[in-house]
Amino acid sequence: MKNNLKTYNTFNINAKCKYFFKCSSIEEIRKCLKSEDFLNNSKLIIGEGSNILFKNNFEGFILKPELKGIKILSETSENITLKVYNGEIWDDFAQFCVNHNYYGIENLSLIPGNVGSATFQNIGAYGSEIKDVIVEVETINIQTRKLEYFKRNKCKFDYRSSIFKKKQKYIIISTTFILSKSFQPNLEYSGLRDELKDKINISAENVRNAVIKIRRAKLPNPKEIGNAGSFFKNPIVNNQKFLELKCKFDDLKYYQLPNNEYKIPAGWMIEKCGWKGKQIGNVGTYHKQALIIVNYGKATGNEIFQFSQKIKKSVFDEFGITLEEEVKII
Ligand code: EPU
Repeated sequence: MKNNLKTYNTFNINAKCKYFFKCSSIEEIRKCLKSEDFLNNSKLIIGEGSNILFKNNFEGFILKPELKGIKILSETSENITLKVYNGEIWDDFAQFCVNHNYYGIENLSLIPGNVGSATFQNIGAYGSEIKDVIVEVETINIQTRKLEYFKRNKCKFDYRSSIFKKKQKYIIISTTFILSKSFQPNLEYSGLRDELKDKINISAENVRNAVIKIRRAKLPNPKEIGNAGSFFKNPIVNNQKFLELKCKFDDLKYYQLPNNEYKIPAGWMIEKCGWKGKQIGNVGTYHKQALIIVNYGKATGNEIFQFSQKIKKSVFDEFGITLEEEVKII
């Protein structure tokens, strides 16, 4: 297999694939979708590879859509509607919005990946989720090769999920966002509130800078240490399980959700099991955030996977909870 994927995944895994195509227009995507090589092989659509673990080589066809552009669709004195193509780098767009005084995504600063993959998995951080500013998603149906449009309420957005992730039938072409022209800081996340406590008039730029500072302090930069952000999702448990955990662990960390459900931070559980900063061979958890698995240089995808399974087993043994991967395992 000739195509090396090392620069296409932020874990820096030296995996290979059989076919690899970048497409910068809808016509190019259609051409790829019609090709014999695409039709006769297993398929994978990737963005910037910031949420993927290549456990093995991929014996199939990888398509990387990379359409560029930001278009203003409409504008009033209160808000602006922008259509952003999938290949735009998410954080460049976040910076662009702060520079132009378009508000709503400043809490999502510095998240790796592009606009298509950010939409695909409904990125979230520091009290915001991308779904809250999405109006519509333009896609191409992989089978029919026709364009299909999904208004926000048809996207089935959920915690790190969407209809696009659940069905794997569509390639995201662009996302339309509505952003506000008046700034209302979202300081729901206590760490962000603390970071900004001495500021009198908080601007979106202040929020962006504070988020960047928090992320840099807690999360490893994938350009320096291979990683894909949170490896697992924070599990959601029912009231009965929550009460059981609360009895067993005085220091239990949790967020209460509607419907008597609770989100338990996986990073906290992993740390409780003694995994924070632990390293086995080339793989470890980050010493400042146990939810991040890192490649110390020469790890194979399978080594990282085996390490993650050990963590999963420990958490299950201690808490009776099966962690679910946030990272897509190939
Ligand atoms: N915690 C520990 N030990 C750790 C890590 C976390 O005790 O090693 C505790 C923290 O003290 C805190 C709680 O767990 O009380 C939550 O930690 P944190 O605020 O760092 O966030 P998280 O729940 O681990 C989630 C997202 C992150 C996002 C942050 C901030 C998921 C899977 N992860 O992490 O998203 O940046 O909240 O909003 O929901 C990502 O998806 O890749 C990602 C980094």
